[in-house]
Amino acid sequence: MRNILILGGTMEASALARALAERGEQATLSYAGRTGNPRAQPVPIRVGGFGGADGLAAFLKAGAFTHLVDATHPFAAAISANAAAAARASDVAHLMLTRPEWQAVDGDRWTHVPDIASAVRALDGPARRVMLALGRMHVEAFAAQPQHHYLLRFVDAPDAPPALLRHHLLVDRGPFTLAGDLALMRDQGIDLVVAKNAGGEGARAKIDAARALGLPVIMIDRPPVPQAQAVHDIGDVLAWIDHSAHRGV
Ligand SMILES: NC(=O)c1ccc[n+]([C@@H]2O[C@H](COP(=O)([O-])OP(=O)(O)OC[C@H]3O[C@@H](n4cnc5c(N)ncnc54)[C@H](OP(=O)(O)O)[C@@H]3O)[C@@H](O)[C@H]2O)c1
Repeated sequence: MRNILILGGTMEASALARALAERGEQATLSYAGRTGNPRAQPVPIRVGGFGGADGLAAFLKAGAFTHLVDATHPFAAAISANAAAAARASDVAHLMLTRPEWQAVDGDRWTHVPDIASAVRALDGPARRVMLALGRMHVEAFAAQPQHHYLLRFVDAPDAPPALLRHHLLVDRGPFTLAGDLALMRDQGIDLVVAKNAGGEGARAKIDAARALGLPVIMIDRPPVPQAQAVHDIGDVLAWIDHSAHRGV
């Protein structure tokens, strides 16, 4: 019997869990535990870190998992590296479900930066009204540029207020629409967007809205991914599961 562990925390992971449940596959969805209130899922979930690559390898063995699908966010680099190493060490079939990056089109005003620290440095200069579309983990770094007013949007209400001098905080887990993000950016007088190049549909409304309004975007490029087989579609994950089962995994 095949037994699939999905590393989640994304809309794609939830969609894969639904597809596997509909096929009657045995699957478990793993969350890091960053949000207080994960959505209900049609497969069992488990929450919290594994304790590095070794911990994940031990978890795969103890649970008799045959397949590991890494459907984590493209910026969750540590867990993806751990997943590749743990799958190798435990001889479990491993696949990454990733999203294509967003691409700039003619007229886009993107400045590419390699990481959060560079995005902070790119905000040197006079005060602006900045939409910081990053999630709460990296927001505090922007306290180093206190001249700006920041629009923040978090999935959950934070335990303590963000340590940014001037900000407006929205709590909303989306999905977001172009019309909604256009209205939000206009209402808030946003003149610059800072975003990670997450790719995919769930988070792209802000990029489309910035494009429609002609706003500059500081685009944080993705961290490197491990050498591994990767697909973009859930159908391809299902085909891979069937194929690897035929090979006797
Ligand atoms: N980074 C983002 O921008 C972003 C955006 C949206 C959603 N997310 C989701 O949020 C979660 C954490 O992201 P991150 O950037 O903090 O990850 P990360 O830096 O790659 O991972 C840090 C540690 O968190 C644990 N972890 C991460 N994902 C896990 C999962 N799905 N199940 C169990 N443990 C997990 C692992 O702990 P151990 O070493 O102890 O196993 C990992 O070493 C991921 O599930 C990701 O898909 C991230």
